[in-house]
Amino acid sequence: MNHSFSVTDTFFSFGLIVIQTVNYCGAIFVFLKKMTRLFTIFLLNIFLVSCSKSQNQARHSSELVGGPCEGCEAVFEYGNRDLNPIDTLPDFGDEGQKIKVTGTIYLNDGKTPADDVILYIYHTDQEGIYPTKGNETGWARRHGYFRGWIKTNDDGKYTFYTLKPGVYPSRLAPAHIHPIILEPDGKYYWIEDYHFEGDSLLSEREINPESPRGGSSGILQLKKENNIWVGTRNIILGKNVPDYE
Ligand SMILES: [Fe+2]
Repeated sequence: MNHSFSVTDTFFSFGLIVIQTVNYCGAIFVFLKKMTRLFTIFLLNIFLVSCSKSQNQARHSSELVGGPCEGCEAVFEYGNRDLNPIDTLPDFGDEGQKIKVTGTIYLNDGKTPADDVILYIYHTDQEGIYPTKGNETGWARRHGYFRGWIKTNDDGKYTFYTLKPGVYPSRLAPAHIHPIILEPDGKYYWIEDYHFEGDSLLSEREINPESPRGGSSGILQLKKENNIWVGTRNIILGKNVPDYE
């Protein structure tokens, strides 16, 4: 009798221990799950704060030079893109005249290739419109999505592939590509637009500018190489840009 009671009792106790252990493990599991979530949120917060901090630092140390420039801030809108000396704009595969624009960016001495310079370019579509998809933010709402960013290496060279843009429907300006420069020390400014030799809409001021910003008129003489029309333009940083020094 005593013995039988003892066995039942042992089983009962063992059952309790198993249930308690299961409960205990369950509690630990829930606790760990919660902690993992909290830790992930904590890490995510640190990441977001440091990201916005470094972006803000980049913007705070930047300085617009050479007078007012509507939309020059678009030079900062490359987001997470890993910039390099070559970029291909989204219209390159479309119907139109394929062009390759290339050259070297020099320091203000006009001789030393400039490293780490960002060149932002944007232009219209074949109808002379800055095309948008409707979901744009920032300056893309005005500049459209035919735009690109190039960052030079220590040889200062840059290249971009795109289509030769159309002319504004008003025909008040020749076909053009807008360039904006951002230097590694944060100076940013516009330089003369890229234009195309032979465009009947070019004005005398555009053909022979007195003090062209960036060191040249920006008029490209396109020459056909295979199936692409190639134009070269070198850029001198700060050349004829007021208050650059
Ligand atoms: Fe324009």
